[in-house]
Amino acid sequence: MEKGISRRGFICAGLATATGVVISGTSAEAAGKLKILRDGRVQIDVSKFKVLAKIGGVLSVGNVKSIPTALVRTGKNSYQGLDLRCTHQQVTSKLVSGSFKCPAHGSEFTKTGAVKVGPAQSGLNKVKTEVSGKTVILG
Ligand code: FES
Repeated sequence: MEKGISRRGFICAGLATATGVVISGTSAEAAGKLKILRDGRVQIDVSKFKVLAKIGGVLSVGNVKSIPTALVRTGKNSYQGLDLRCTHQQVTSKLVSGSFKCPAHGSEFTKTGAVKVGPAQSGLNKVKTEVSGKTVILG
């Protein structure tokens, strides 16, 4: 494990849905599906996650540089990382029935992070996402 990221930080809870998946850093790392880089960014082999096989698929990545992050397939060869902290008061939102929902005060966001329901007034922030073939680097 690289510095700054704990294995526990990669364990996500509550995001297992039809379009989401829960992974733990331990198993995903062991399987070579993702790699924590020395600088804390996370490298993901998207071809190894069935949930990303279709456009609109969402992978719960866990913490990337201490930010709860999801990776969304937005197109044939495009992906976007999203900071799951609600823009209202920073509570972590979770994927429920195709939307990211904040358990604190009810804000909802689309899979691309746009606000559907307030009180949040701005969409989820994006996490820097670099795509090169089947490899995505977040952070
Ligand atoms: S913190 Fe998310 S709606 Fe208030």
